[in-house]
Amino acid sequence: MKRFRTPNKIAPSEITPKDIYLNRRHFMQGGAALAAGLSATGAHALVQPEGGSATPSGPDWLERKVAAASTTAYGQSEKPAPYSAASTYNNFYEFGMSKSDPSRHAGDFTTDPWNVTIGGECEVKGTFALEDILKGVNLEERIYRLRCVEAWSMVIPWIGFSLSELIARFKPLSSAKYVEFITAERPKEMPGQRSVFSTIRWPYREGLRMDEATHPLTLMAVGMYGDVLPNQNGAPLRLVVPWKYGFKSIKSIVAINFTETMPETSWNQIAPHEYGFYANVNPDVDHPRWSQASERRLPGALFGSNRIDTQMFNGYAEEVASLYSGMDLRKWY
Ligand code: MTE
Repeated sequence: MKRFRTPNKIAPSEITPKDIYLNRRHFMQGGAALAAGLSATGAHALVQPEGGSATPSGPDWLERKVAAASTTAYGQSEKPAPYSAASTYNNFYEFGMSKSDPSRHAGDFTTDPWNVTIGGECEVKGTFALEDILKGVNLEERIYRLRCVEAWSMVIPWIGFSLSELIARFKPLSSAKYVEFITAERPKEMPGQRSVFSTIRWPYREGLRMDEATHPLTLMAVGMYGDVLPNQNGAPLRLVVPWKYGFKSIKSIVAINFTETMPETSWNQIAPHEYGFYANVNPDVDHPRWSQASERRLPGALFGSNRIDTQMFNGYAEEVASLYSGMDLRKWY
């Protein structure tokens, strides 16, 4: 297995219990906020789960790295969904088709060790340990809206880094026009992959055009709500593309390939007339079977469905609309 550098081995004595380093971190952030005189973006604490800490666990080095993430201005005005909603209402068909299946069945999925294989049109190829993939990367919290093609949405505080940072390290060639992402295929651990009812051709795969992949909003996430990702949300490494329907945000990535031609993507393979390659959130282009003009913001209100208007590019038009100038978005849905 190739590595970027020899990994730093962390002595067990250096590992601080999670509650202690989290407290220390909040103390330090408080100090930094005072020092900065509470600047415009401010120094906030990472968004934490309601009612205490989250339950997922990852390797110590990753937990420490995630807890040390910085906060940014991205989405600070949004109200994140409760952790209990974001971690139990999921789409992760590898673990079953109903929304509660992933949290019920993904608990024993092995995410450590984790390797990612890089290939295709790039200079630096090989299989890399996750620790090496994340070496030198500074994690930050970004609060993004996630709009599912099924017309529900949630606000989630992710912890990750711009995919562009990672892409640069593999030195894509000028022939690399697209980036393909592939999820783990482990039917023994993923009951949905053994199901006779599944229509997905495993492994789950997704893709982006190179300019989409290197856009600063495109995030590689390794955490949420101040902690590592729970398995049902795509541990240990997933994509988050906030202006596209949620199915583009592929989970538990084991391979990234640089390609000359548009890669095949799972939902497009299943129903090309319903799910396009681009899958940009667009209230003006309906799904053949339902309207995309509005969405149910989860969690719902006690009385009423909490329905809100869907925004073009999920509200990120100012940042991303120029990527598609001159394109007919009805044709390239
Ligand atoms: N990635 C894989 N590998 N398998 C999946 O079934 N579902 C997608 C996406 N990534 C999916 C996936 C869909 S349809 C959505 S809406 C989001 O994950 C949901 O992410 P969440 O469960 O973290 O909210």
